[in-house]
Amino acid sequence: MKMHRCYVLLAVLLLLCPTGGGAAAARGLEARDAGAAAPAAQGAGAARLEVLSPDGSIRVEVAVGPEAPTYRVRRLGRNVMLPSKLGFVMKDGGALAPALAIASASRSSFDETWTQPWGEKKDIRNHYNELRIDFEETAASRRRMTVVFRVFDDGVGFRYELPGQKGLDDFEIVDELTEFALAGNYTAWWIPAFQPDRFEYLYTRSRVDGLGVVHTPLTMEGDDGLAVSIHEAALVDWAMMTLENKGKNTLKAALVPWSDGVLVRGRTPHRSPWRTIQIASDPGALVASYLVLNLNEPNALGDVSWARPGKYVGIWWAMHLGVSTWSSGPKHGATTAHTKRYIDFAARHGIPRVLVEGWNVGWDADWTAKEGNFKFATPYPDFDIEEIARYGAERGVRLIGHHETGGDVSNYERQMKSAFEFCNRYGIDAVKTGYVRWGKGISRVDERGAVRKEWHHGQYMVRHYQAGVEEAARHRICLDVHEPIKDTGLRRTWPNMMTREGARGMEYNAWGANGGNPPEHETILPFTRLLSGPMYFTPGIFGLLFGDIRPANRVNTTLAKQLALYVVIYSPLQMAADLPGNYDNNLAAFKFIEDVPADWQDTKVVHAKIGDYATIVRRDRASDDWYLGSVTDESGRTLEAPLDFLAPERSYVAEVYRDAEGADWEENPLAIEIVRGIVDRGDVLKLRLAPGGGQAARFRPATAEDLRTISPLDK
Ligand code: NOJ
Ligand code: CA
Repeated sequence: MKMHRCYVLLAVLLLLCPTGGGAAAARGLEARDAGAAAPAAQGAGAARLEVLSPDGSIRVEVAVGPEAPTYRVRRLGRNVMLPSKLGFVMKDGGALAPALAIASASRSSFDETWTQPWGEKKDIRNHYNELRIDFEETAASRRRMTVVFRVFDDGVGFRYELPGQKGLDDFEIVDELTEFALAGNYTAWWIPAFQPDRFEYLYTRSRVDGLGVVHTPLTMEGDDGLAVSIHEAALVDWAMMTLENKGKNTLKAALVPWSDGVLVRGRTPHRSPWRTIQIASDPGALVASYLVLNLNEPNALGDVSWARPGKYVGIWWAMHLGVSTWSSGPKHGATTAHTKRYIDFAARHGIPRVLVEGWNVGWDADWTAKEGNFKFATPYPDFDIEEIARYGAERGVRLIGHHETGGDVSNYERQMKSAFEFCNRYGIDAVKTGYVRWGKGISRVDERGAVRKEWHHGQYMVRHYQAGVEEAARHRICLDVHEPIKDTGLRRTWPNMMTREGARGMEYNAWGANGGNPPEHETILPFTRLLSGPMYFTPGIFGLLFGDIRPANRVNTTLAKQLALYVVIYSPLQMAADLPGNYDNNLAAFKFIEDVPADWQDTKVVHAKIGDYATIVRRDRASDDWYLGSVTDESGRTLEAPLDFLAPERSYVAEVYRDAEGADWEENPLAIEIVRGIVDRGDVLKLRLAPGGGQAARFRPATAEDLRTISPLDK
């Protein structure tokens, strides 16, 4: 289904419409046709254009103000964003914001359903009304800037375009003026920006007036339940945006600078990422919003059948527990024999890949501080890659490569091509990359040969991460990026960009100084970090208590919650993160990990209370099975999940993995009860979640034999 209509208004379109609009303006189509051509209006604040979402619920108004153009967002007649400034300050030529007039404007509508090669939902509708406004300075310089708005039923995206023009070719931006003037002092869940640990912080909940400089997605709730999330889409050659609290509920774009202080350098024509505002009546609808993906360009790689999602195990958790080492020596984890044992385990359980960290030269001594250290095609002598690849291929198991750069990016860039060629030689079709360094610790050798220290999130690194995705694609390799740039939906364009970290994952439970992630962490992630895209969280730890190995640490959940995370936290590369021995000791619970897919036909949110609980159901891409995951914070609770997502006129076998009576993340975390029974879409499943607990379930269509032998589920 595809429909594309374009209305180009050659003259300046000036719509002087009463705020709030009437019934006609409340419907997208009528509003789109409502503008009358009129002469350019230069009077401050007089010129105003507007555009509505296809269903008319969201309205964006753009006005020319004395200091800068502004936009305002309303939903169902109520303000979401008050007039908020647009524009830039250039190093040469100053602010491109005041004294701008609207030179021309055009409108179009778009409605298309596209298919994700893999993902949390197969078919995605991309339906919006677009308003494109060309601004021009009234001063002699006559610099030009275009702002494009796309208004969807679930929010707004807008981006800047700097057309090629005389007097503005090479440019350096020293401030982006974009504001988000919130209509209220919303409640926000946030992590701080410009910090040593990049995105790896616990979320704080506070009113917007308590924010400093924060990362996006920034998810907020109004007192009336309105859910809003600010983020960006298609960050390709720009600096990453953070948000700075300017008071009066106004947040301003704060871009991450280069080491010399410039924010963005480029040459016209050039365009910014989309600034996105997702808006819904509850946080669950934010999870089901694909606005960020829709604002990315379609697949640029063509046939990507080689980009295969799936589960994996790995020589990884043992290092985080300190049982094995990345470095060489008696505890070296990445040995040939050890890897073969993981390959055997994977083959036994139908898991297609094995990640091995610490396989290559460079890990000895302080690997985050030495330049030119890591070699990406030189295995340690006790890691016989030829033999391991052969052994894996015989058993249908591939390796996942690991390129830890230690933040020495110039060193990695010199080797990137040969590193991926090395992977190709050994059948490695997915690579985990890593950039472990404190914030502003990235090493870049500049044009003069001097080492510069960059942030992970400035334009230099945005370009680097992008170069990595494209080089990997040339080698048909999928990426899982650690210490990444945040996800802005680029997987739509480059589907080999599969997953990334960019939040506090499971590893913090192994060694986090403050005892790891508290139980509520996983009830916040789905509505914050996960709105940007898939996350490598590494669920599935069965050995929740580490005993003498790490007496001060443990995993702060029940066992059932570990299973629920496979559904709640989406990742196309999904790890069974624990040591194989811990799975061998509980194969009944491990059955859920064997069964659960990493690729989905559909996703629905059943319960959404940020910081308290979340229930998500997903349908398998390859079968008619549905899976449910529900997680709670430190409070136990009972939730009711209507099974109305199941297909009609059909019975299912529900295989339920739940907290047993008396389970409790602190006192009794391993108590799990596995039950099964027949259900159908008329049933309501009671989810009894222990404190810090969860529940996982698989629903598979019942066979005649099942119906004869299995009783209805005791709900
Ligand atoms: C940090 C990553 O998050 C972790 O998964 C990895 O094992 C280490 N860096 C070493 O690369
Ligand atoms: Ca809570």
